[in-house]
Amino acid sequence: MTDLRHHGDVDAGPGLVDFAVNVRGTGPPRWLRDRLVTALDTIGRYPSAADDRAAREAVAARHGRSPDEVLVLAGAAEGFALLPSLAPKLAAIVHPSFTEPEVALRQAGVPVRRVVLPEYRLDPALVPDAADLVVVGNPTNPTSTLHPAATVRALARPGRLLVVDEAFMDAVPGEVESLAGTRSPDVVVLRSLTKTWALPGLRAGYALGAPTVLARLAAARPHWPVGTIQLAAVTACAEPPAVAEAEKAAQEIAEHRDALAASLARLPGVEVTLPAAGPFLLLRVREGERVRQALRRRGIAVRRGDTFPGLTSDHLRVAVRDPETCELLIAALAAEVRS
Ligand SMILES: Cc1ncc(COP(=O)(O)O)c(C=O)c1O
Repeated sequence: MTDLRHHGDVDAGPGLVDFAVNVRGTGPPRWLRDRLVTALDTIGRYPSAADDRAAREAVAARHGRSPDEVLVLAGAAEGFALLPSLAPKLAAIVHPSFTEPEVALRQAGVPVRRVVLPEYRLDPALVPDAADLVVVGNPTNPTSTLHPAATVRALARPGRLLVVDEAFMDAVPGEVESLAGTRSPDVVVLRSLTKTWALPGLRAGYALGAPTVLARLAAARPHWPVGTIQLAAVTACAEPPAVAEAEKAAQEIAEHRDALAASLARLPGVEVTLPAAGPFLLLRVREGERVRQALRRRGIAVRRGDTFPGLTSDHLRVAVRDPETCELLIAALAAEVRS
């Protein structure tokens, strides 16, 4: 059994150039940090309904939804942890993908069926008819595949809830193929502030869905599940200037990713999964574990692929960095990969 709880932060380490963790930069921009610091002045009181309302209103305006269709979360990961509250009879998880949904459901005793996609292409017919919960990532970690919105949408039906993990959608220019603005009783979209805003330590995200579904998800939460600083972050990152900044960053990442993909694809023995839409690339090389260890000795951390269902130790995931940093990875792979 692979370690489903392995994540890129374990592959990164002191002194290593980090291509393992898919977070943009090392911390939030100055203006956002300032907003969080200002929010510190309010932590002498409990988070209020007004704080929560402000966050939900900002998110609702960003996605063309209403505030009662927004549930603020302590990261998208909390959204996965809440899924067992829906008491699904059979959950289908589309793989390869982020493993926390499967962990949360299995730990709660929910039967899970893995749907491993051939060539990472989404085919709704592969999902067992009996599944009353389906979880899919879009764009998908670790393949960087962006599924068409219509195909994703086709996974939902009355009596089955579709959960779309859009933790990386804000890194896709124009957020094309997002279902965040789609109003449906059968669809919940999870979003994260972690990646684009470099806030992994804060734990902030949200769910978008029908109010009745969100109420069921939230039923067993403790009181005050999300702190004032997290709520302030959610509000700030949903405001129009932040959305415009994220869009600009998404365009830059896309340029850097395409350049990195082209350089890596030219290396004999390196197979790049294309098309790619996320801020990371999935590679396949021979003797992947040897290559990964050799890269570490050269001071470069990449994410191992073998803990993702459907992948092997020959799969490596690399984050997209600025072109200068990417040169280090390209040179190291050129030296270590044998065709
Ligand atoms: C695809 C995907 N979804 C969700 C998460 C969790 O996001 P958050 O930090 O908002 O809990 C991650 C984190 O690595 C991820 O890669």
